[in-house]
Amino acid sequence: MSRLGILTSGGDCPGLNAVIRGAVLGGIISHGHDFVGFRDGWRGVLEQDVVPLPRQAVRGIARLGGTMLGTSRTNPLRDGGADAVRDSLGALGVDGLIAIGGEGTLAAAQELSRQEVKVVGVPKTIDNDLDATDVTFGFDTAVQTATEAMDRLRTTGESHHRCMIAEVMGRNAGWIALHAGMASGAHAILIPEQRVPLAQVAGWVQSARDRGRAPLVVVAEAFTPEGQEAPYSPRGLDAFGRPRLGGIGMLLEQELQRLTGIETRATVLGHIQRGGAPTAFDRVLATRLGLAAVDSAASGRWGTMVSLRGTDIVNVDFAAALGRLKTVPEDRYREAAVLFG
Ligand code: F6P
Repeated sequence: MSRLGILTSGGDCPGLNAVIRGAVLGGIISHGHDFVGFRDGWRGVLEQDVVPLPRQAVRGIARLGGTMLGTSRTNPLRDGGADAVRDSLGALGVDGLIAIGGEGTLAAAQELSRQEVKVVGVPKTIDNDLDATDVTFGFDTAVQTATEAMDRLRTTGESHHRCMIAEVMGRNAGWIALHAGMASGAHAILIPEQRVPLAQVAGWVQSARDRGRAPLVVVAEAFTPEGQEAPYSPRGLDAFGRPRLGGIGMLLEQELQRLTGIETRATVLGHIQRGGAPTAFDRVLATRLGLAAVDSAASGRWGTMVSLRGTDIVNVDFAAALGRLKTVPEDRYREAAVLFG
């Protein structure tokens, strides 16, 4: 029997609670482990801020959004270092960690594991941009939420004969835009992987209008129009040194209205995409990842992360898992673009 600690770190995402439940139940039932949860990610580790996680603490939580443990963008390497993490785990009698997080969190977990901290990672992001796993949990829920929002934008757009713009998340990749845009029948989908001149976007908008439609444009927050250097990021950097994005939709609103003369309205969906209950798909994926993470810990596969390959959950070394992003391939964009305009 071991004592394991669980933490959720970085931006939250629907399905985190289902991972926690899967890990705790699987660990208790299959391995006789006991668990503590660290509050607010690595902050809880550094400050020894823990909650006990007995079986009853995770009852019924798979269907709930957010994370029962809280999260933060505390970077353990910048804010304490491996020694502080090891000391804290030692003081609490914690033998190993299950760290649920995105690229920033997993990169920190990788470095900690190089410095002898026992960690198993669980990949998480609504953006679906981690190359080492076929799908990240939270993505399906975000796409569903964005699609529902776009269905609503379409009805009001049609009433007013307007062009509607929906800005969705996607820091490095346009997966949410691509999927929600296809699902809602958007007339243009703009993603960071593809530079498109605004005149081309205006052409798609105009052609949809010419057929009597209220044009819908879906734009990922990191889309960079041809001729501009970097994604629109007026709000500085986050704790991991990455640009805080958001607002390109408002710029497009002005530009498309100017270029087409069509009254245009932009909506930034923002964190609505990260909130609320996970879909059934995300609950199942998250539960399986939680179960697999404790199995990995029980068999000493530290320094790895669990991931989805096809329909199987597998282990991947941090070294192989990180460093490459999964962006939207050209052919997936071309496939969608057949229906633009
Ligand atoms: O990485 C997930 C994500 O939701 C991105 O899509 C977005 O750019 C970012 O996090 C927003 O982060 P924050 O919650 O810090 O504003």
